[in-house]
Amino acid sequence: MGHHHERHIAIILAAGKGTRFKSKKPKVIHKILGKPMIHYISLAARWSNPEKVIYVVGHEKQQVIKAINCLNCIYVEQKEQLGTGHAVAQTKPYWENFEGIVMILNGDLPLVEGETLKNAVKYMEALLRFEGAPAEGGENYRNENIAGVVLTTVVPNPLGYGRIIKDKNHRIIEIVEEKDADHQTQQINEINTGIYLFYAPYLKEVIDKLENNNAQKEYYLTDVVKLLNEMGKEVYALMVPDYTQFIGVNDRWDLAKAENILRMKYLQFWSYAGVTFHNPETIYLEFDVELSPDVEIFHGVSLKGRTTIGEDSIIEEHCTLKNAKIGKNVKILKGSIIEDSVIEDNAVIGPYARIRNNAVIKEEAQIGNFVEVKNSTIGEKTAAKHLTYIGDAEIGKEVNIGAGTITCNYDGFKKHKTVIKDRAFIGSDTMLVAPVTIGEEAITGSGSVITKDVPDKALAVERSPVKIIENYAEKRKRKNDG
Ligand code: UD1
Ligand code: CA
Repeated sequence: MGHHHERHIAIILAAGKGTRFKSKKPKVIHKILGKPMIHYISLAARWSNPEKVIYVVGHEKQQVIKAINCLNCIYVEQKEQLGTGHAVAQTKPYWENFEGIVMILNGDLPLVEGETLKNAVKYMEALLRFEGAPAEGGENYRNENIAGVVLTTVVPNPLGYGRIIKDKNHRIIEIVEEKDADHQTQQINEINTGIYLFYAPYLKEVIDKLENNNAQKEYYLTDVVKLLNEMGKEVYALMVPDYTQFIGVNDRWDLAKAENILRMKYLQFWSYAGVTFHNPETIYLEFDVELSPDVEIFHGVSLKGRTTIGEDSIIEEHCTLKNAKIGKNVKILKGSIIEDSVIEDNAVIGPYARIRNNAVIKEEAQIGNFVEVKNSTIGEKTAAKHLTYIGDAEIGKEVNIGAGTITCNYDGFKKHKTVIKDRAFIGSDTMLVAPVTIGEEAITGSGSVITKDVPDKALAVERSPVKIIENYAEKRKRKNDG
């Protein structure tokens, strides 16, 4: 049917250094909620369903391409960062014969929502097609005056942004950068968000005509508007009311602000999905985290990486979970740290427990205060409730691990394995010198250093006899007096 103008491509500008970050790393790979900043605008761009996504990269381009992590995207190099207009000019070979919309996005806009871009594309399509009544051309009618749309917003403090100068009909006459603005222009608080949609055939006419005779000696993309006007074409402002989506992240304080805004959005999302947060201002959660209904999360909790939490689980104050898979109805008590591990349904962990390196805590097990579990499996209903280190161990079900028990898994050269079979009873302060196996229902006496395997149901004690000296206190006193 020839709806050529309904197609669009996206260009994301990510070649800049981000000088104000004062960083060794390129700006757009700095992280927000565990993902490189560029990830978020990429997601939003894809939400609008473009035919292609083109990234302009330059400064430390390999690092940036790696962070973008998109196989079917196009990467165009901008060798010298001569400005946003120059950046777009580098991509021209990819759209010079394209009869559609080119959507251009600054790479430092992590808060823009996909829906905003989708609506912008729709708006541009509507302008191209329906300005006035469709003439004889019918469905294929195109308004030949329309060259583009710039997303704008009104901000309380426009400092640093390009100002929008427009006529009464929302047509933009010019965009003036902060550094080129006179006092009067600086008063304008409608700003350029850094999101543009241009009709490709017209953009092609002007993109190589940009000049750099401005305060920053750069080729500004924003000057395209003036050039299009000179061609007799129109660029419209699409003003978006929610200005918080358009924070341009230029320094690390902007990064912190953007992260906070996004964090609150995600907390709100999970809250509406059935999660209770106490004191959400203090809760940190990353992009890949997944929560379930009736999860309850308290003050100061950090949820990182691919952490998932099942229904009815409670995470108490100041816990950190990273790549943790938490089952249903689990209690993670105050101050516990869980990394790269699995906690199955109905288990209780903490307070102040540390679980790491592929540990698996099976159903209804209890891991108590000051217990560290590393690379070990703890069977169903097994309890290790106080002051214990369990490393490289395989522990069966219904085992009781007494306070102060330690698996001595490291001999200075290698790590060795400890096996404790079902229903064994490990007395308090047992040292299990690995490799060692404790049989089913076997018992170790408290304070024993176990260096041999213990058969099923046996008792192993390693302990010197207790010597009792009667009246020793009196003797000692006399000795001191004498
Ligand atoms: C730009 C706009 C400004 C707008 C603001 C919105 C211009 C001239 N100004 O200013 O009107 O209000 O964004 O946040 O466009 N980049 C390149 N190559 C370059 C220069 C920049 O790829 O040569 C990339 C940067 O990596 C960045 C983006 O383009 O992702 C924007 O560049 P930046 O320098 O941050 O522009 P602003 O000064 O913020
Ligand atoms: Ca910027």
